[in-house]
Amino acid sequence: MTVVVLLGAPGAGKGTQAPLLARHLGVPVLASGDLLRAAVAAGTAMGREADRYMSRGQLVPDPTIVKCFLDRLEQPDAQGGAILDGFPRTRVQAQALDQALAEAGRAVDRAIYIDVPTEDLITRMANRRICTANGHVYNLASNPPRRPGVCDIDGSPIVQRPDDEEATVRARMREQIEPLLDVVDHYRGAGILITVDGLEPIDAVGRAIITAFDASVGEPPPAGASSAAGRLG
Ligand code: AP5
Repeated sequence: MTVVVLLGAPGAGKGTQAPLLARHLGVPVLASGDLLRAAVAAGTAMGREADRYMSRGQLVPDPTIVKCFLDRLEQPDAQGGAILDGFPRTRVQAQALDQALAEAGRAVDRAIYIDVPTEDLITRMANRRICTANGHVYNLASNPPRRPGVCDIDGSPIVQRPDDEEATVRARMREQIEPLLDVVDHYRGAGILITVDGLEPIDAVGRAIITAFDASVGEPPPAGASSAAGRLG
């Protein structure tokens, strides 16, 4: 049973790295953004509410996302553990997660913070593309698909996410970095934070995450990893 929280500002690389760590640990990825986008696409009441916030780059209110995410975490496929991508994103969400896990005799094992400076994030988001079928992530500069406009994995068209336009990206940074740093502090205080340099190439970040995670299992996070302040604050 391993519960790992992946933390990072919008565009830090959570969605890119989550499947790699998930494969390494043999657990599923639960991504809050994917859950919300599915609700928006399905046109549910929750999706309509979420869309109002997402399209403005704001966080969806805590009660809405907490219920949605904790319901997902209770599904059978997550009983052996999970990688949590994008949740928690506020201290209230982190506390709700701690409480829900504690009630089930579980806990967050590690929180991995992918640290990237804001200006690099804005450039990355401008170049990000995702596939329409499964949300596989590409970057026109650093990680393009082999055939332009087509997903390498499932052949579906690749498109820009509506909230990746520059004005929305800047709003996401403005609205979301302060609560993110609060969550980083929450896990630093709990002694389970690992910080990795998210400016390295994708493969190197993946290796750093797996190496730091493996080294930390069953013992405190490696020296110099848990107390790093990061570059966003
Ligand atoms: P969500 O979908 O979670 O978006 P996000 O957190 O803003 O994260 P992103 O998906 O934008 O970035 P990422 O870190 O996954 O980076 P990626 O791997 O794609 O949330 C969307 C919205 O839903 C939020 O704005 C909010 O409104 C709402 N929401 C979600 N969760 C919520 C919550 N808990 N509470 C309240 N509201 C919530 O990489 C980005 C790009 O960079 C890609 O092109 C990739 O190829 C490239 N890249 C990745 N790594 C590297 C690297 N090392 N070097 C170069 N390029 C790289």
